[in-house]
Amino acid sequence: MNTREEVGEFTQIFNALMSLMRTFIFKVLRVGPIPTNISFIMDGNRRFAKKRNLEGLDAGHRAGFISVKYILQYCKEIGVPYVTLYAFGMDNFKRGPEEVKCVMDLMLEKVELTIDQAVSGNMNGVRIIFAGDLNSLNERFRAATQKLMKLTEENRDLIVVVCVAYSTSVEIVHAVRDSCVRKSKIGDGSVALELSDIEECMYTSVVPVPDLVIRTGGGDRLSNFMTWQTSKSLLHRTEALWPELGLWHLVWAILKFQRMQDYLQKKKKFH
Ligand code: IPE
Ligand code: MG
Repeated sequence: MNTREEVGEFTQIFNALMSLMRTFIFKVLRVGPIPTNISFIMDGNRRFAKKRNLEGLDAGHRAGFISVKYILQYCKEIGVPYVTLYAFGMDNFKRGPEEVKCVMDLMLEKVELTIDQAVSGNMNGVRIIFAGDLNSLNERFRAATQKLMKLTEENRDLIVVVCVAYSTSVEIVHAVRDSCVRKSKIGDGSVALELSDIEECMYTSVVPVPDLVIRTGGGDRLSNFMTWQTSKSLLHRTEALWPELGLWHLVWAILKFQRMQDYLQKKKKFH
């Protein structure tokens, strides 16, 4: 056996052991309540690239995609039904044009790769939904998001909502406009909006409100992410940069959610 084969065999054994360990940890975790929707504010990609001396404008964001892959896998194994990812905020469009293009190109590359995966039936039951002002994306990107949503619409094991060109302010304006149009079409000319009318027209109305919001990169802000929907969510911040977020950070956040269940349930009932 040559060294390469030995390394390959070692990696296989290591992965099998890790998977066994996860199965055990997640089984224990499932004794308590599991969040229905975990939302991630993925922050710290550029700091990660700087810390590791990685070259290229997209280096940190590329590393961030690896984290996305693992975190989704863990959430699916734990049995979390919905995950919401804050991938690109409206404010991020204010970054330098080169960086915006770089992140957009990278996202398009990943969406197209995932389309290939979906076409060959390798999605493992994962449904992808994009939420945000998709009209502000370029034609190719928008078409790719529509295609991926269509290809995965039957999948049920994990529903992933990817927020791109998203901010809650834009979402509310869009929802109010849309619900006015809907109402004026069916009504007698007078538009009396109910809360439920607006909520139905939110970009993120396809998923339940988040029970747990995890923000990486040490920030204490919601950065215009689901501010309408998170009034009763547990917020958990970690100093870990998004590409550094691992199994233990996720398990720790869910344990905190479980420890605070009584408090969270009381707040849901009595405000
Ligand atoms: C988050 O990481 C990714 C996007 C907003 C696209 P940042 O790019 O904000 O990285 P930091 O926070 O500057 O390190
Ligand atoms: Mg940041």
